[in-house]
Amino acid sequence: MHDIIRQLDEKRAAARLGGGQKRIEAQHAKGKLTARERIELLFDPDSFEEWDMFKEHRCTDFGMEKQTVPGDGVVTGYGTINGRLVFVFSQDFTVFGGALSEAHAEKICKVMDHAMKAGAPVIGLNDSGGARIQEGVASLGGYADVFQRNVLASGVVPQISMIMGPCAGGAVYSPAMTDFIFMVKDSSYMFVTGPEVVKTVTHEEVTAEELGGAVTHSSKSGVADLAFENDVEALMMLRRLVSFLPSNNRDKPPVVPTEDPSERIEMSLDTLVPDNPNKPYDIKELIVKTVDEGDFFELQPDYARNIVIGFGRMAGQTVGIVANQPLVLAGCLDIKSSIKGARFVRFCDAFNIPVVTFVDVPGFMPGTAQEYGGIIKHGAKLLYAYAECTVPKVTVITRKAYGGAYDVMSSKHLRGDVNFAWPSAEIAVMGPKGAVEIIFREEKGDPAKLAAREQEYKEKFANPFVAGHRGFIDDVIMPHETRKRICRSLAMLKEKKLENPWRKHGNIPL
Ligand code: HXC
Repeated sequence: MHDIIRQLDEKRAAARLGGGQKRIEAQHAKGKLTARERIELLFDPDSFEEWDMFKEHRCTDFGMEKQTVPGDGVVTGYGTINGRLVFVFSQDFTVFGGALSEAHAEKICKVMDHAMKAGAPVIGLNDSGGARIQEGVASLGGYADVFQRNVLASGVVPQISMIMGPCAGGAVYSPAMTDFIFMVKDSSYMFVTGPEVVKTVTHEEVTAEELGGAVTHSSKSGVADLAFENDVEALMMLRRLVSFLPSNNRDKPPVVPTEDPSERIEMSLDTLVPDNPNKPYDIKELIVKTVDEGDFFELQPDYARNIVIGFGRMAGQTVGIVANQPLVLAGCLDIKSSIKGARFVRFCDAFNIPVVTFVDVPGFMPGTAQEYGGIIKHGAKLLYAYAECTVPKVTVITRKAYGGAYDVMSSKHLRGDVNFAWPSAEIAVMGPKGAVEIIFREEKGDPAKLAAREQEYKEKFANPFVAGHRGFIDDVIMPHETRKRICRSLAMLKEKKLENPWRKHGNIPL
């Protein structure tokens, strides 16, 4: 017995060493933590239960039978984050560069299968050279097994990918199918083909960082939701994200008690919207002053900045916030912002998170770039997402709600549950100037007459009362009472039940 215990200890020690001390030092020299160090930081102390520590690959080609490492390059298991169950796989770059073998994939699939049974999130800490080259198609099969599970888990349990090293080739498609992607600056990258292939095929010269680094994906491509300075910050923020999320699609998000009174009045909001309708203001000020304790977890802050998305809490309950940002492109909806907003609304809907929408939108962005890029189809994504969404929806129009964009942004017509407007709201087909230029075209040569028409249009439509007369707006509220009114609405909607007709699945315009 004593010998077996000693053997076990030795085997565990060998597994913990992964690819060996030298490679661990190389990992540290790159400013990266090891797979196990990352898990230690991610989970509550002493909560991690490891599985398959002794699993090895079965490859016998290229002398691989002599090169086995217990665990085969990925650490898997489960633990708790703030006391809540979460499954994890953490790729170990010190073992064959974290490359994915058939056995490595089986370990990942095992935790994914258990996460689905237990109804708990799956977090992937990705740090891998991709398919294990020595294994060929067995490795490709392993990837596909993971992809299939990503899809089946989508909308059932939250899936979060943290990219903490290389992630290239087809390997990027597993993270791409998860709900959130975080990256670490200067040490992680994602691309379908690397700089060398790019150079050969398109003759472009680009570094790995420029092509697929954290800054590129969080600001240019929108592939990543957030970029962090280092592993430690990234893992701490991952814990924070999990605190907003329910464990699965049948669960409600955890309620975090707060000292912040739900009836808190915020007088400064009464002067947030400038008198001049063409002057911008920062919608994030409204968000921060409305949510519990000013705690707003923004996603994709550097991408499609004309729409703001993220999580906050109202009276302790998680809400998803979507807001047009007048500071950027006057808050217009364009292709990128529509897709950004749509995906977020669909996440919230899948996971029982109420959606609070702040509207100040002059319409969809005009121009050939947008039309040729397919704004019709992509704008429709946001419309589709709001229309199919059955979680509680509370909307506040702060200023402009023009045209189709008025309909899209969680309007009453798309089953908005509670729709408020501030007194500064203007709900119309378009801005007064554009409107009179069309309906009074024959008076174009007479600026004085046109100005009078514009004033008339403004008086008629540049207010929330026309929509209020029809019941499209439930109430016109003072800006300072926004938090109170949203909190009351959400409390009223707590047990909301609404189901869409049965179907295999809808056909969102992709
Ligand atoms: C087996 C690999 C490997 C791989 C790296 N290693 N990638 N072993 N399969 N895919 C090993 C290296 O041999 C080395 O072993 C160790 O990992 C560390 O690699 P280095 O090259 O020394 O590290 P670094 O300089 O940091 O470069 C990392 C790297 C590079 C950029 C990832 O290793 C690389 O380009 N690897 C190949 C990437 C690749 O082409 N993968 C296949 C992509 S196609 P030692 O023993 O020296 O420590 C793909 C298809 C997926 O993934 C399809 C899914 C559908």
